[in-house]
Amino acid sequence: MTALNDDIRSTTERFPRELVRRLARNYRDKTLEHAEHTMTEPATVFTDPTRFEKELEVLFRRGSHVVGWTGELPRPGTFVTKSVAGHPVLVTRADDGVLRAFKNACTHRGAQVADGCGEARRLTCPYHAWSFALDGSLAGQPDSYAFDEIDRMTLGLEPLPIADVAGLIAVGLNDSADPAAAFADIEPELRWCGYENHEVVCHHTWNLRANWKIAFDVNLETYHVDYLHRETLSDLVLHHPIFDSFGRHGRWGFPTTGIEKIADVPEDQWPGVAPVSIVHTLFPSVVILETPVSSQMFRIYPGRTVGECTVELTEASLKPTESDEERAARKAGADFAALVVGKEDFPAAEQCQRGAEMGVKSFRFGTNEPMLQHWHRTWQSVLDAA
Ligand code: FES
Ligand SMILES: [Fe+2]
Repeated sequence: MTALNDDIRSTTERFPRELVRRLARNYRDKTLEHAEHTMTEPATVFTDPTRFEKELEVLFRRGSHVVGWTGELPRPGTFVTKSVAGHPVLVTRADDGVLRAFKNACTHRGAQVADGCGEARRLTCPYHAWSFALDGSLAGQPDSYAFDEIDRMTLGLEPLPIADVAGLIAVGLNDSADPAAAFADIEPELRWCGYENHEVVCHHTWNLRANWKIAFDVNLETYHVDYLHRETLSDLVLHHPIFDSFGRHGRWGFPTTGIEKIADVPEDQWPGVAPVSIVHTLFPSVVILETPVSSQMFRIYPGRTVGECTVELTEASLKPTESDEERAARKAGADFAALVVGKEDFPAAEQCQRGAEMGVKSFRFGTNEPMLQHWHRTWQSVLDAA
């Protein structure tokens, strides 16, 4: 990884040179990086309610989760709310500039004190109008005499652990979580992305009739692209991927059309933005796709039952947008991505779920699908160790 870090320091290119080199080599050699063996997984991992309850507890409630980009809170006085596996989370940057996370739950009786995102001096609960400063402290309380028996200092919003991971916001859903440690294995590999400068352009949300792992799995290979995406992506995405793992986390990438123009050209003539995409996959269920012009974050969460999930897609520009045209271009890119996943990948995920639910015995992950193997092994080993 030393070579990779040297490359980052010596260039202003969008993608690390070493990754582009590996992708160009795969394209030239008409190959891809493989796993050593085929893997078989019982289909019950997508249908078993007992396992699902354990996943909710071990992977989600006890865990740390990447929820967004620090650039979403660009100034003191900003806040953003997130639903994280169904739990309401509030992230703020108070006047002191410090990032904080809280349960987005009023200390009176639990209602959500903030909605969406924006700038505010106080956040006011819609139920009885208790208000809170962005550092979480209680700022106002109608009929405050009625609560005189409680020390006001104990009525601030309940904090959650938070870390800035190379410009990503990582939040722990309980007091003992350590979000900085949870992402330490991959943090150095994320620094080239410039996440701290990202600006959110738009969101899409889907509620699917599929287990959360099946919805995650659609983001992990290019094997399906020439078939499922015959009309949309097959001319763009090339099946010559690379794969890496960093502890629990993973990274993969693929070349796109245009790589043929640089694959045989001396490196000093390569363009600043190579025709490739890099995909970071973060434990337990976040996928961030780095395209040449944007970053797309998929947060995939279990739904109410083992056979349901929610997918949140957030599209960000690499730097704050400077014109309406630029914003419109980013939004058009996000809308196209949403159309493809919404009309092609997610219906396929729902089909796979129906297959699992009707009793097909096993799912298979080929040697050409190493990222799926990594993730199913990782989730299983964390569950086994709990
Ligand atoms: S629940 Fe928030 S003020 Fe009552
Ligand atoms: Fe796909």
